[in-house]
Amino acid sequence: MEQQFISTLSTTASELKSGSVSAKSPSNIALVKYWGKKKNQIPTNSSISYTLTNSYTETELKFSPKTSDTFEVEVYLEGELKESFAPKIITFFERITAYIPFLNQFKFEVHTHNSFPHSSGIASSASGMSAMALCLVQIENILGANLSEEDSLKKASFLARLGSGSACRSVYKGLVEWGENDFIEGSSDLFGTKYPDVEIHDVFKTFHDTILLIHEGQKSVSSTVGHNLMNGHPYAERRFVEANENLKALLPILKSGDIKAFGELVEHEALTLHAMMMMSNPAFILMKPNTVAALEKLWEFRRETGNHLYFTLDAGANVHLLYPEQDAEAIEVFIENELKKFCQNGNYIKDKVNF
Ligand code: DP6
Repeated sequence: MEQQFISTLSTTASELKSGSVSAKSPSNIALVKYWGKKKNQIPTNSSISYTLTNSYTETELKFSPKTSDTFEVEVYLEGELKESFAPKIITFFERITAYIPFLNQFKFEVHTHNSFPHSSGIASSASGMSAMALCLVQIENILGANLSEEDSLKKASFLARLGSGSACRSVYKGLVEWGENDFIEGSSDLFGTKYPDVEIHDVFKTFHDTILLIHEGQKSVSSTVGHNLMNGHPYAERRFVEANENLKALLPILKSGDIKAFGELVEHEALTLHAMMMMSNPAFILMKPNTVAALEKLWEFRRETGNHLYFTLDAGANVHLLYPEQDAEAIEVFIENELKKFCQNGNYIKDKVNF
């Protein structure tokens, strides 16, 4: 299966020219979580996420031919040279070198910018690796690969996965699924697949994601450490089965527009992710007191008003508030009056899904 991504390019170093490409890619928020992986970035269960709108990475990749046979990369974040970022890109290059033949023939300069503050605790790996992968496929096409639009995106998703698993879902808009299963046609462990818009009720295309920055600067559990926690975890096998069951159960909900069933499933997924970490060895408690306070307040608001306000969590303390446009006005007053106080420095980010 991986064979299809091996490049057919035959360009030799002497034909190469300097140039520059750029790509913009949004972050995503998982509804059914990817937590656990096998060798070569193969997920242990299927996941699905909303691609966001306002939280994105923009990357320009400059390339110029060179003769030495090593990887050469300089990374600039917000215009500043970040020597500590280069090893991450080199590791990425090592993983994808079989599929992108020109990596050691160019010297690369990566100029990258995130729309969200570095300290916010929003992971930039999904949007960052997705933007990088999109840039590399553009270069491959400039050099003569001439992939169709569809094949270019598929390859970018395949490459992005090798940089960071969740990044493969950021290549497409809408709802994006990743992980092979027998109930979504075309699903694959190797790349993300856009879940068809026609299978999604319009109400789910209006969702907001307001991110409460409970603890700015807090490092979420690193993904390498995090996914490893599922190796030998006493509940791992059950979790992997349940994640796939949850995804399968979500599909008719997405079709019918049942917001309540959607919210309950998504909250259960988020709490399961955190429960897995609490039961891991070593154990992690990533919620902060204000995370819990915000969740309790949210549940109270929902009980009292019946408004469709739900949450999900990443591997960190921040709370993602999910709600449809139809209830946005009342909910945003509630966020300002009752939830803002749980955010460090009162900061939250207003984002929405991207269809
Ligand atoms: C909790 O994609 O960051 O956000 O493949 O090691 O880079 P690596 O992991 P990463 O893990 C994301 C985990 C999650 C859930 C999700 O996005 O599905």
